Amino acid sequence: MKLFPDTNLSALLVLLYCFCLQFGSATDTITAAKFISDPETITSSGGDFNLGFFSPPNSTFRYVGIWYAEISVSTVIWVANRNKPLKNSSGILTISEDGNLVVLDAQKKVLWSSNLTNSVVNSSAQLLDSGNLVLQGNTTGTFLWESFQHPSDTFMENMKISTNVTSGKKVQLTSWKNPSDPSIGNFSAGIVVRNLPEFFIWNGSSTYWRSGPWNSLVFIGVREMNSVYLNGFSLVDDQEGTFYFSYAFSNESFPVNFVLNAQGNLLRKYSNDGKDWKVRWSALETECDVYAKCGAFGSCNSQNSPICSCLRGFEPKNTQEWNRGNWTSGCVRRTPLQCERKNNGSDGSKKDGFLKLTMMKVSDLEDWSSALEEQCRSQCLENCSCNAYAYDSGIGCMPWTRSLIDVQKFSSGGIDLYVRLAYSELDKEGNVKVIVIVTMIIGVIFTGICIYLLRRWMAKQKARKKKMKEILLLNMGEDKHGDNVNQAKLEELPIFNLQELASVTNSFHQSNKLGQGGFGPVYKGKLLDGQEIAVKRLSKASGQGLEEFMNEVVVISKLQHRNLVRLLGCCIEGEEKMLVYEYMANKSLDTFVLDSVKQKLLDWRRRFNIIEGIGRGLLYLHRDSRLRIIHRDLKASNILLDEELNPKISDFGMARIFGINEDQANTTRVIGTYGYMSPEYAMEGRFSEKSDVFSFGVLLLEIISERRNTSFYDDEQAMSLLGFAWKMWNADNLVAVTDPIIREPCFEKEILRCIHVGLLCVQEFANDRPSVSIVISMLKSEIVDLPLPKQPAFTERQIAPDASSSQHNPSKCSVNNVTVTMVQGR
Ligand SMILES: *[C@@H]1O[C@H](CO)[C@@H](O)[C@H](O)[C@H]1NC(C)=O
Ligand SMILES: *[C@@H]1O[C@H](CO)[C@@H](O)[C@H](O)[C@H]1NC(C)=O
Ligand SMILES: *[C@@H]1O[C@H](CO)[C@@H](O)[C@H](O)[C@H]1NC(C)=O
Ligand SMILES: *[C@@H]1O[C@H](CO)[C@@H](O)[C@H](O)[C@H]1NC(C)=O
Ligand SMILES: *[C@@H]1O[C@H](CO)[C@@H](O)[C@H](O)[C@H]1NC(C)=O
Ligand SMILES: *[C@@H]1O[C@H](CO)[C@@H](O)[C@H](O)[C@H]1NC(C)=O
Ligand SMILES: *[C@@H]1O[C@H](CO)[C@@H](O)[C@H](O)[C@H]1NC(C)=O
Ligand SMILES: *[C@@H]1O[C@H](CO)[C@@H](O)[C@H](O)[C@H]1NC(C)=O
Ligand SMILES: *[C@@H]1O[C@H](CO)[C@@H](O)[C@H](O)[C@H]1NC(C)=O
Ligand SMILES: *[C@@H]1O[C@H](CO)[C@@H](O)[C@H](O)[C@H]1NC(C)=O
Ligand SMILES: *[C@@H]1O[C@H](CO)[C@@H](O)[C@H](O)[C@H]1NC(C)=O
Ligand SMILES: *[C@@H]1O[C@H](CO)[C@@H](O)[C@H](O)[C@H]1NC(C)=O
Repeated sequence: MKLFPDTNLSALLVLLYCFCLQFGSATDTITAAKFISDPETITSSGGDFNLGFFSPPNSTFRYVGIWYAEISVSTVIWVANRNKPLKNSSGILTISEDGNLVVLDAQKKVLWSSNLTNSVVNSSAQLLDSGNLVLQGNTTGTFLWESFQHPSDTFMENMKISTNVTSGKKVQLTSWKNPSDPSIGNFSAGIVVRNLPEFFIWNGSSTYWRSGPWNSLVFIGVREMNSVYLNGFSLVDDQEGTFYFSYAFSNESFPVNFVLNAQGNLLRKYSNDGKDWKVRWSALETECDVYAKCGAFGSCNSQNSPICSCLRGFEPKNTQEWNRGNWTSGCVRRTPLQCERKNNGSDGSKKDGFLKLTMMKVSDLEDWSSALEEQCRSQCLENCSCNAYAYDSGIGCMPWTRSLIDVQKFSSGGIDLYVRLAYSELDKEGNVKVIVIVTMIIGVIFTGICIYLLRRWMAKQKARKKKMKEILLLNMGEDKHGDNVNQAKLEELPIFNLQELASVTNSFHQSNKLGQGGFGPVYKGKLLDGQEIAVKRLSKASGQGLEEFMNEVVVISKLQHRNLVRLLGCCIEGEEKMLVYEYMANKSLDTFVLDSVKQKLLDWRRRFNIIEGIGRGLLYLHRDSRLRIIHRDLKASNILLDEELNPKISDFGMARIFGINEDQANTTRVIGTYGYMSPEYAMEGRFSEKSDVFSFGVLLLEIISERRNTSFYDDEQAMSLLGFAWKMWNADNLVAVTDPIIREPCFEKEILRCIHVGLLCVQEFANDRPSVSIVISMLKSEIVDLPLPKQPAFTERQIAPDASSSQHNPSKCSVNNVTVTMVQGR
């Protein structure tokens, strides 16, 4: 060692000892005794971030800040004394007597302080590997203060931008004045919650950019947010008035952040080479993104010249100004609406209608209602002040009763906006639409009358059924979402009596038996009015107790979707518990796998239709904003097919309703089906939407290959279907995975794409798996570039050779207190 050529060994040891004393083992911590003074720095334990003194380019002032240690372009993510710079390099960063983190100048004057209200003794500040600087007391784990709650201009992964609606307190980004001056600039960015949460950028106090409302997955007015690249955001409502917005990308191989720059633009930056920052996305890409660029009732399209035009049926308020390119005063309606004319005395001849605009960033200042799409439309038509509406399945109904402002036409993405216009403003196509609308309204009224009559009829039956309902409602005590809505829905659910069901199923005769479900036999019956039904009779010995039964009734009675099997009613009498469903002519999907004649029926188009249908059903379950439902037991035998081979998801005995803000849950009771369960659910009992995605992936691969995941053998070694598919992926021979019946050259590309999507769904880590909405976009080729799949779960697992012998023989086995029901078919 030539570092200390003239010292002997003992002197060297003393030196080392002093070195250790001074810096301790942790160089990521500051205490009262271990402060730093310019130009010292500390580094987070993983070496990702530095904390210390810096000067911005072209400036001699010194600031305390945090920056990336490993990226050569110095990038400051947080600044302490933004508004009070040090004039020369004699500052120190330390812990004051009252426990605050402080920046002091040469005269020991406090330039900046963490401003804790209660003083603490012996606190210390630590720089974490996330870039967060935290102040801790003597109890570790709880932070007295953290820089992530006082951000500068950079939005880091796992940082929470928040708004407390009750107190108005905000955690928000604030821009620098300019690249040489970190003091607080004109721009800020944060969450606003009026009716729906939105992200805003402000210039001073006026809005500069808005994201559009959050639909539980994305902000609907943000370009490209629907793509895989901008996935990973979450917006959480703590139910006490605070909304938190954060992101966590699963791809952590290089640093990513969002910066609100001095011009007010929000940039998503990443650095994949450790040298430079690149911008992948920015909030303000064109002039159209500036808030209210075209004024009221104007629409902005960056592809057009000029970019602003009035919405159809509207004209400039001030034509000269407008033609000069001053769009601020916007547009006004050309022909008054029918309801306005009516109020003026003249007779309103023809009904107003809606003009559909596609791929729109919808207007600001929306209202919100929980109405379904059709109701949304009719409600808007009924209210004279309603100017437009839009519907998003993740949000619900958004009517606008004020001016439409900040409307933009996208070239992809966006949602449909329906603008209300007088009849004469609608073109011929519109006329057809009006007729359709009128017919629909008549239809709605007609069904309304029918429902009314039906209800009256049911009211008469009520006395007889009242007792039964009481049992039902009593048992709902456990359902925490069991509010009035629940009860109302249950009230509407027809109750059959035992006699009725026995007579239509020929006293539950063997010849009427359709199959055997996990919890009991299913019988076919025909009601007096000719409707065919399937009756699931829960066996007394079955594991499905009252709890699962009630769960299924509660869950499914609230759902209506073309890809979900419909519950027609139920029956509880004494020991007997039954569920009555619509009858599905083609039974379940797994009967096709077993039946080589039926298999031929399923050509590629039909299979794709089934896959897509299941996806849509699942999307409805996951995304319906009021009720998020995780199915938990998606498998071939739970997919029923109607006459036209349309798939319908059934069997909601294990489904679990999530609050809108719950993302995953734990259960000590793992119930599911071997081969379809995601690893995190099977092993740790954690389930989320992504566990359904896993099951969907398995199902998809099974449908394409016509083989079961669990009873699949490769020539040399027993191996799961997932393992086989992965092997073939790596061997670049995906064709081997497809069922020979559908191997047609013209579909090959599409089929291989499907398998690719299937592999993305069964990836080991839940975070890597795409959400159902993305899966559907991928299947429909709306997303063209698919990421490469990582190795699926369970590829190494060897399947016991007798796995298929348990068919029709429900058996339970216990592994580590986890119960796994091995039901292979009905
Ligand atoms: C610093 O000053 C130089 C020369 O005036 C200029 O070219 C450069 O853009 C400035 N850098 C910044 C970050 O303002
Ligand atoms: C920094 O400036 C202060 C006065 O503002 C002075 O007292 C101090 O000596 C200066 N320190 C250095 C290192 O120049
Ligand atoms: C701390 O409190 C002082 C006095 O109330 C105030 O001037 C200063 O801006 C506060 N600092 C921070 C970082 O909030
Ligand atoms: C603060 O730390 C010092 C040295 O580590 C110790 O002597 C003292 O007792 C501590 N004070 C309290 C109140 O914990
Ligand atoms: C932490 O410090 C507080 C005083 O600030 C003291 O009351 C408490 O006992 C200390 N706790 C531990 C675990 O040292
Ligand atoms: C939000 O503000 C209310 C009212 O000031 C307060 O009671 C509540 O604790 C705050 N929530 C959070 C998370 O700070
Ligand atoms: C910030 O606002 C002031 C006036 O409020 C204005 O003069 C200045 O140009 C603005 N800066 C930027 C970057 O927009
Ligand atoms: C921000 O607002 C100020 C006036 O308040 C204006 O001068 C400036 O041009 C605005 N900046 C942008 C980027 O619109
Ligand atoms: C994930 O990282 C790899 C490089 O490590 C990159 O090629 C790929 O595009 C990234 N995927 C996403 C979704 O960012
Ligand atoms: C645009 O029109 C508005 C309203 O008439 C006026 O206040 C504003 O000065 C005009 N702006 C320009 C740039 O002419
Ligand atoms: C209603 O009538 C008044 C005068 O009779 C007219 O000024 C106004 O524009 C009319 N309103 C509409 C919406 O047609
Ligand atoms: C129409 O909508 C407005 C705004 O939501 C509301 O105040 C008004 O009561 C509604 N009118 C009718 C007739 O529903």
